[in-house]
Amino acid sequence: MKTELSAQEAAVLEIIRANPFAGQQEIAGEMGLARSTIAAHIVQLIQKGYLLGRGYLLPDAQRAVCVGGAVLDRKYHAHRPLIEGTSNPVNGSRSFGGVARNVAENLALLGTPTSFVSIVGDDETGRQLLRHLRDRGVDVSQVITSSEKPTAEYAAVLDPAGDLAYGIADMGIFDLFAPAHLDRIWPHLASASWVFADCNLPGETLQGLISRKHAVGFKLAVDAVSTPKVAKLPQSLNGIDLIFMNLDEARAYLKTDFGSGPEAAKKAAQGLLAAGAGESVVSIGSNGIAVANGQRAAAFPAVTANVVDITGAGDAMIAGTLHNLLSGENIFTAARIGALIGTLTTESDASVCSELSENFVRANMHRMPA
Ligand SMILES: Nc1ncnc2c1ncn2[C@@H]1O[C@H](COP(=O)(O)OP(=O)(O)OP(=O)(O)O)[C@@H](O)[C@H]1O
Ligand SMILES: [Mg+2]
Repeated sequence: MKTELSAQEAAVLEIIRANPFAGQQEIAGEMGLARSTIAAHIVQLIQKGYLLGRGYLLPDAQRAVCVGGAVLDRKYHAHRPLIEGTSNPVNGSRSFGGVARNVAENLALLGTPTSFVSIVGDDETGRQLLRHLRDRGVDVSQVITSSEKPTAEYAAVLDPAGDLAYGIADMGIFDLFAPAHLDRIWPHLASASWVFADCNLPGETLQGLISRKHAVGFKLAVDAVSTPKVAKLPQSLNGIDLIFMNLDEARAYLKTDFGSGPEAAKKAAQGLLAAGAGESVVSIGSNGIAVANGQRAAAFPAVTANVVDITGAGDAMIAGTLHNLLSGENIFTAARIGALIGTLTTESDASVCSELSENFVRANMHRMPA
């Protein structure tokens, strides 16, 4: 037996039954009550079991959608100098990667409601990859499964010193991510606060996303992924609210040699604004980040790290920035906390630090330079 409802609670429930997508403001208007009163009634309705939740009822629900790469990363570490044309004994390990996938997993660990949009093969790798994200609480309902191509894989063959001898990328499946897929799932994107896309997407799909977004409310963030992939970005970054690049990628995109170090990163960040982006973050590994918006450009040093493995630092920095923007911070503060999360990721051997949480970040805040 459910608990009795007050007259006002019953009236709110009736409005929601008639229109399950009614926002709190709308209900407040209809009943002539304050929105905060409606919010309190909805909490009661959930506690009393009349509503399953209120996620979709809040017009201001802070949700992020990550669109782009989902990859199985394999690492093969050779014991002895590599010899061509023969079999080389290695230690192998595997983990999940892909910029958008990593960003989605980090966002979920930080507590942002997140959904992931990508394409995987109809294979065990794809199923495991999605299961892992689902276990983290990421909504993977809009991921397409292709029977044409296998889930993307990246294999790194490392020499005994740990340096990359060969990088082997089987990413053909991403060519199948056509603009039409985004059209099909548009309401899923349109209802988000932030959409993040990586340059694993085909150029025309990225372009489609940029040109359609002006009509909706979400903000769009984009990461370059790698120097070759910056070529997929349009000539103008108009329509991109926030662009992420490392300094090499900015150099490749802007075809300008800024030199190195914080001043160079600052110039690159300003160059990305001149190219049309609303705000920009340019990362320079252990040297930190530069951030620019219409008012200001600034560089921030990185937190000193006990580096274990730098893989995924950039992706964690992006997720940390987006999470803090969603919490209402400005881009400078958000990116600085993001950079700290990047550093924390270098101290973990996994590409997504499984210890990550808001509390974990808070416990490390004292390490940030003043
Ligand atoms: N060696 C390091 N020491 C401290 N912090 C680091 C180090 N490497 C990376 N970071 C942190 O992570 C952020 C992003 O790193 P980086 O600039 O290497 O990104 P990236 O080139 O996009 O890397 P990737 O995409 O391969 O993860 C840096 O701005 C910094 O805050
Ligand atoms: Mg990167």
